[in-house]
Formats: sequence, C-alpha cells, structure tokens
Amino acid sequence: MVVTVASLKGGSGKTTLACCLAVHWHLQGRAPLLIDADPQRSAMRLAERPRALGGVALREQADADVWKTVEDSRSRYGVILVDTPGFDSEITVSALAAADLVLIPVKASPLDVDRMMDTVRILMSGVRGWTPTFRCVLTQTMRGSVIARHVREELEASGFPLLASEMPNRVAFPEAGLFGATPSLMMPEGLASRDIAAIAAEVEALFPATRALCA
Ligand SMILES: Nc1ncnc2c1ncn2[C@@H]1O[C@H](COP(=O)(O)OP(=O)(O)OP(=O)(O)O)[C@@H](O)[C@H]1O
Ligand SMILES: [Mg+2]
Repeated sequence: MVVTVASLKGGSGKTTLACCLAVHWHLQGRAPLLIDADPQRSAMRLAERPRALGGVALREQADADVWKTVEDSRSRYGVILVDTPGFDSEITVSALAAADLVLIPVKASPLDVDRMMDTVRILMSGVRGWTPTFRCVLTQTMRGSVIARHVREELEASGFPLLASEMPNRVAFPEAGLFGATPSLMMPEGLASRDIAAIAAEVEALFPATRALCA
C-alpha cells in the first residue's frame, strides 16, 4: 500500500500526518517506509533529532523521480508513505502517480478548504489517465468549535470524501517533534496517539487485502 500525503497548501499538516502514521505502523510491525519528497527536508530533519522517529525506515527523494523510488521499494515494505512539498506540483504529481491512496490534510477554515479544492483539481488533472483514491483529513481542529462541523458538511456536500477521524489541534504533536518523535512514541496511551491510531485504522479499512498481508 502506498499512501501519498499531499496538499499544495503549506502548513496543512502533511509532514506531521505522514510521520505520525509511519511511526504508528512501525510500532505495529507493519514495516513502513517513509519517503521525504519535500526539498525542505522536514521529515529528514525530524529524524536527525534524538528519537529519530523511532527508527522508522526513511528515504529522501525530493524530485520528480519519486515515483520510481516508490516502485523500486514497493515489494520490500508493508506500507510506503510519501511526504510531499506544499508548493511543487511536479514532485507531488510524481508522488501521486505511484499512490494507492492520497491523503489530503486540510485545516478547518474556509480559506484552507478553497485551497484544498484547488489542490485536488490541479493534482488530479496532472495524473494522466486515472484518478487515485483520495480522502481529505481535517487537521488542527478545535474541540467544541462549530467550524469543523461546518467544513465537514461543506466538503461532504461538494463530493470531497473525508475520513471520519480528525487530527485535532494538540500540543502533543509539535512537542513530540522537539525530540524527533511522534505522540505514539512519547505517550502511546495519550489522546494524540489515539487520534493517529483511528486515522490509521480507517486507512487500513480502505485496503483490506493489504491488511491481511501485513498483519
Ligand atoms: N494536529 C496538530 N496539532 C497541533 N499542531 C500541529 C498539528 N499538526 C501540525 N501542527 C503544527 O503545524 C505546523 C505545520 O505542520 P506540518 O509541518 O506538518 O505541515 P506541512 O503541511 O507539512 O507544511 P509544509 O507545507 O510547510 O510542508 C507545524 O508547526 C506542526 O507542528
Ligand atoms: Mg511538510
């Protein structure tokens, strides 16, 4: 299973989501590979910090050849995650071409939603001949606020499929990053760790055959 995390909106939570899912599946023994396709090297730099993302397998390929790296690695890993840049659509389209699933993190605000819709149109029209399966994921949502519910309804009404699970705004995410970790490593029983487990379970349910292979 290849999961590309993409959005042409900077700061939407791509790197956080990609790293958190990679570490979660690593701790579950699913042999993930995390590919950093962002020239900013955010995931690579996180892995240079003391906890080194828990030792998850990591590769850097920040150019339009990233699809080849994915194809070369596919048979050796249970799941491949690709973190993409927030701006370069050439690299991102290459990463999409190899994806079984595209996760599009989107912050719960009208400005972010508009940009996300552009993202989907630009990216999907760049992948010739087919449209990868994609799901939006609401990120940095605030507990008790109504905006996330409104945005969810708006996206669903516009036909943008959305995961039921969200990545809420929690300080545990950036705090874990300080140590080159994710909440699943720092606080396995904590709320942020459970948020990621819920997202991971939804993704796995989309690919039941892969789940059987990797379990
Ligand atoms: N769920 C969350 N709760 C709190 N902070 C978060 C959450 N997700 C991401 N952040 C913070 O928001 C900022 C942007 O997140 P991140 O770097 O993952 O986004 P990105 O989409 O990869 O950005 P870029 O487009 O620059 O690559 C970071 O400071 C990160 O720590
Ligand atoms: Mg990033």
